[in-house]
Parts: sequence; C-alpha cells; structure tokens
Amino acid sequence: MKFELRNVTRRFGERTAVNDVNLEIPQGQMVGIIGRSGAGKSTLLRMINRLTDPSSGSIHFGDLEVSRLRGNALRGWQRDCAMIFQQFNLVPRLDVLTNVLLGRLNHRSTVMSLLSVFTREERIMAIAALERLGIEQTALQRAGTLSGGQQQRVAIARALMQAPKMVLADEPIASLDPLNAKIVMDALRDINEREGITVITNLHTLDTARGYCERIIGMADGHVVFDGTPSELTAEAVQAIYGSDRDGAGIDESMTSTSINIPASAERPARSSAGVNALAAASV
Ligand SMILES: Nc1ncnc2c1ncn2[C@@H]1O[C@H](COP(=O)(O)OP(=O)(O)O)[C@@H](O)[C@H]1O
Ligand SMILES: [Mg+2]
Repeated sequence: MKFELRNVTRRFGERTAVNDVNLEIPQGQMVGIIGRSGAGKSTLLRMINRLTDPSSGSIHFGDLEVSRLRGNALRGWQRDCAMIFQQFNLVPRLDVLTNVLLGRLNHRSTVMSLLSVFTREERIMAIAALERLGIEQTALQRAGTLSGGQQQRVAIARALMQAPKMVLADEPIASLDPLNAKIVMDALRDINEREGITVITNLHTLDTARGYCERIIGMADGHVVFDGTPSELTAEAVQAIYGSDRDGAGIDESMTSTSINIPASAERPARSSAGVNALAAASV
C-alpha cells in the first residue's frame, strides 16, 4: 500500500510552512526527515496524521484519500498512524499500564472508554508491549515518575497498542541523552523491521538519520530539497538542507550530531519475562 502526498501546501497566514510537497512512500520504509528548525517538518507530519489540514493538495493511502476523511473514517486513520512526540504526551498521574492501554481507546466504544474498561486481552497486550521495550517493571508506576527515556518507551508501547500501519515520530529523541536516544531509535527500527510498519521520523541530528533511515528527506523553507539514501546525502546536499551560517561557513556535520554511538555492551538489557505473568495477574 503506497502512501502519497500530492502538491501539499500548508499556510499559516502569510507564512507557508509546507510548500508544494510531493512524496511517495511505500509501505514498510524507514524515513527520516531532517532540516533546520522552522523548515516545516512538524507541520508535514501533523498533516499526515490530520492534526493539521493542508491548505491545498491531497494525501492518499492506497485508494483512500486521507485528506478528505471525516468522522469515524478520520478516527480510523488517526488510529492507523500513531504519533510519537518529543515531549512524550503521557498522562503523568496515571500509571504506565493505563497510559499504554489508552492506545486502545480509538478501538473502543465511547462508553467503554469513559469507564476505562479494558479487557484481560488488552492488559496482556499492554504488558507484552512494555516487555518488548524492556520496561515492564514500571507498569504500575505513575508515568510522571519515569525518566525521559522510559517515558518515550511507554509512548512507543502505547503506539503499538494502536496496531498502526504507520508510526509518525516528531523528534522522538530530541530530549533524551545518547543512551536513551539509541534505545528509542532501536525500538523504532525494530517495529519497522519486524512488523513492516512504515516509520516516518523527524530528526534533529544528521548522524541519527544516516544511521537508522534507509531514506532521508531534507526540508528547507517548506520545500523538499533532498530525497535519497544516506550515501546520496553528500556535503553539498547537507549544505542545501541546512544552508550556511551568516559568515558563509558551511554547517559542520558534528554540530548536528548527538554522537549516539554506544558500545555493544551497553545495548538494552535482556528482557526478563519472569515478572510479566505476575504483573498480568496483579492488574487484570
Ligand atoms: N500553528 C501554527 N501557527 C502559525 N505558524 C505556524 C504554526 N505551526 C507552524 N508554524 C510556522 O510554520 C513554519 C514551520 O514550522 P514547523 O513545521 O514547526 O517546522 P519544524 O518542525 O521544521 O521546526 C514555522 O515558520 C512556524 O513558525
Ligand atoms: Mg518541529
């Protein structure tokens, strides 16, 4: 199933945030979007998820015209493309398990949702999602008490509960230290590779895009100015995306790097399954 943007433009008053963007993204691609602050990256993602509507142009998923969806069909689409944000967007005073279960809300009737009635199967699914991300031991803690890296993993577990076709991540590691950034990017890659879910992620660092994404889209001033593989992203292309400093010097790639390189020994700890059945029993 092909995802497509055709001549998509979004204006905010005088400002054109996204300017005549055309993209085709096949199912299962891992795509990184890079560019300076203000280039239009977030607006582009938000239009895909229909948090913002295009001023003109259209968005398609197979035969579905995403940009025309209303009501239930729109909610269905928003369930199909889960969104992950820089600031996690969890409910801090609720426990982790409930936050993950909130990913099921769009699958449920309003009354059941209001009552927060989740089935045993859903609870088990939520714990399995937490286990997959290596944070099942936090299930009963309030989300607000977790570290940033743990909170972002909860957000990914919540996204998985939506059983999405696409995951949209808006600078998911911008607030994280390098170790947690690696864990979160590894998790996104794992979802992409194992489930074949398309991942489109805005990234503020070049090396992360190069290291994780098979396709990199560079935006500048609302336009797509680069679309290619990491190896095609030459110094010249980087210059076209980021421009040059006021003194005329080019952007040094190290300036846009987080140095995410972590030795293999620091990989995420082996997951324990021992506690999971106990947790399931405690909370079902
Ligand atoms: N809701 C909004 N209202 C007015 N202007 C906006 C809004 N959202 C984004 N913009 C403007 O659109 C441009 C692109 O913003 P954005 O998509 O957030 O860029 P990026 O994510 O690449 O930093 C910026 O000039 C920004 O100020
Ligand atoms: Mg942004």
